[in-house]
Amino acid sequence: MSKIAICGGKSLNGEVDIQGSKNAALPILAATAMNENECELSNCPDLEDVKAALKIISYLGGRSEYGGHTALVNAAGIHKFEIPEELMGSMRSSVLFLGPLLSKFGQAVISYPGGCSIGLRPIDLHLKAFKTLGVSVEEIGGRIYCKVNKIQPNRVNLIFPSVGATENIMLLTAVSEGETVVVNAAREPEIVDLQNFLNSMGAKISGAGTETIRIIGVEKLNKVKYNIMSDRIFAATCLCAVASCGGNVVLQNVNPEHIGLITSMLSGAGCNISCGSDYVRIRSTQRLRGLGKIMTSPYPGFPTDAQALFMSALAAADGTTVFVENIFESRYKHVPELIKMGADIIVDGRLAAVTGCNYIQGASVEAQDLRGGAALIIAGLSAIGDTVVSGVRHIDRGYERIEDTFASLGASIRRI
Ligand code: EPZ
Repeated sequence: MSKIAICGGKSLNGEVDIQGSKNAALPILAATAMNENECELSNCPDLEDVKAALKIISYLGGRSEYGGHTALVNAAGIHKFEIPEELMGSMRSSVLFLGPLLSKFGQAVISYPGGCSIGLRPIDLHLKAFKTLGVSVEEIGGRIYCKVNKIQPNRVNLIFPSVGATENIMLLTAVSEGETVVVNAAREPEIVDLQNFLNSMGAKISGAGTETIRIIGVEKLNKVKYNIMSDRIFAATCLCAVASCGGNVVLQNVNPEHIGLITSMLSGAGCNISCGSDYVRIRSTQRLRGLGKIMTSPYPGFPTDAQALFMSALAAADGTTVFVENIFESRYKHVPELIKMGADIIVDGRLAAVTGCNYIQGASVEAQDLRGGAALIIAGLSAIGDTVVSGVRHIDRGYERIEDTFASLGASIRRI
């Protein structure tokens, strides 16, 4: 099992080209399973989760090639509608193949998806929405059997703006008859990217990015070439690393609007940030200030995926920051590891109070999930002394060789 070794305390300087978005690429890859024609996806990140999605497409009978950040998918050969447990367990986004398979075959058999262990992560909102759209759902022995004769257009009210449920509804109804409306839809930029991708294939979807999405079903989808949006959480990871290590870095190919709250908060912590149309420059020359309170919430609120990243960056800040994790019920698995490095953090349920210490020290720590693992890398980069991060497989699910990114900025970091 590979590990990452870091000799901390170096400032970060230079430029980073932001990778394509994992959380946009995964629903888009699921969407290719509905298309009888070829899909060419550029700016598709080279990640374990992307490989897992391509593996599902191949298992179902489709063809896929990947190279140079481009995925070529031809799903015409897909003839299976059952996804085995081991493929379902490889990541959370395996559940997003449910909509496309039901749309194509009128039936699908899956089991519960995998993904980071940051909470129970049920799929009841997906299944409840699908029942509203005419799908019958039966759970037998851990397998979920779904059937639909004809998708019933309807108004679907989500009790919570679930990203995955919103995406699955869009995937199920893109090729159907009539108009479906999603009320209280998730508003994340990745939903907008999925809408843009589906529409580029000939779908008729509007409203993504707002709380109401309208899908007018179409008969079929066309061949498409599509460029996937950049990864806003990867950008947030780089920003938090520079903020805590010090330095001067330009992030290229980023959409500053997607990280407006992140950059304004880091400015509030003492960083100097300037933005252009597709870049963000961050300069950090002083000890960060605590931010008082950070509550995670659905977009455009503070992203839960940035909670661990900010916690690492603020562990040695001057002042206190209280985190309230409102999205997932157990997303503090990085806290004990940060405490090993000298951080002063108290967790009580959904709250985590971080009292800035003078500095954090290098230690041997273990990643428990994707963003918590990235947070440990950030902590190692800014710590005094040497850090070894194990459990790197969690980090590789969402970051393209994270060590190369930071080594290119002057960090002393390598995979061992
Ligand atoms: C997506 O997960 C992202 N993953 C997550 O990023 C991100 O943290 C999350 O959205 C919130 O922004 C991908 O896009 C692949 P949700 P998803 O459905 O779709 C509960 C990362 O690090 N819920 O909005 O699973 C759920 O348990 C990952 O890149 C139900 O109760 O998020 C959670 O508490 C981590 N029932 C909350 O809603 C359901 O049917 C938000 O979940 C669905 C969700």
